Amino acid sequence: MIPAVLPTYARAPLHFVKGEGSWLLEEDGRRFLDLGSGIAVTALGHAHPALVAALTEQANKLWHVSNLYEIPQQQALAEKLVAASFADTVFFTNSGTESCELAVKMARKYWYEKGQPEKTDILTFSGSFHGRSSAAIAASGAEKMVKGSRRCCRASCTCLSATWPHLRRRSPTPPAPCWWSRSRARAASAR
Ligand SMILES: Cc1ncc(COP(=O)(O)O)c(C=O)c1O
Repeated sequence: MIPAVLPTYARAPLHFVKGEGSWLLEEDGRRFLDLGSGIAVTALGHAHPALVAALTEQANKLWHVSNLYEIPQQQALAEKLVAASFADTVFFTNSGTESCELAVKMARKYWYEKGQPEKTDILTFSGSFHGRSSAAIAASGAEKMVKGSRRCCRASCTCLSATWPHLRRRSPTPPAPCWWSRSRARAASAR
């Protein structure tokens, strides 16, 4: 029978019950240095008193309001990020997948607005992971991710990975050639 939690990860048999700064405590008492930080998504350590106080204070006031309303704290954070980085503006997403999806859409929109709508191809590394949306899966270049959902990925995204020729050999219906394949074909015919 399938487990109650959809088995998408190869999970290590470790049950962490507490975190202290950079350390994780397993239920059997072992301590592990947390170098993973939730795959680099929660790099704030665990249970820092200042963070616990800030979260508790907010949880006692208001949990969530829609983006239909102005959110002063969101505005303040965006201004801090803009001031401290290369960015001119910030879009807050709920997940890494959404961020990758947005990056794909922004890049395509940029070239569309510049009058070059044909510039849609995106090259990614083989064996990478960018999340679980159709575009992010198409960009992963990992056959185990793309297998069985290739049709859906192709329909929604033409992200191509460096492994695509490897995948295409196994696919009965290859996609239209990407920029990368076209330029390789051009180079080959010029030789
Ligand atoms: C490099 C990279 N991109 C994107 C994601 C997707 O993030 P999320 O699970 O928050 O959608 C992950 C998640 O592990 C990741 O490691």
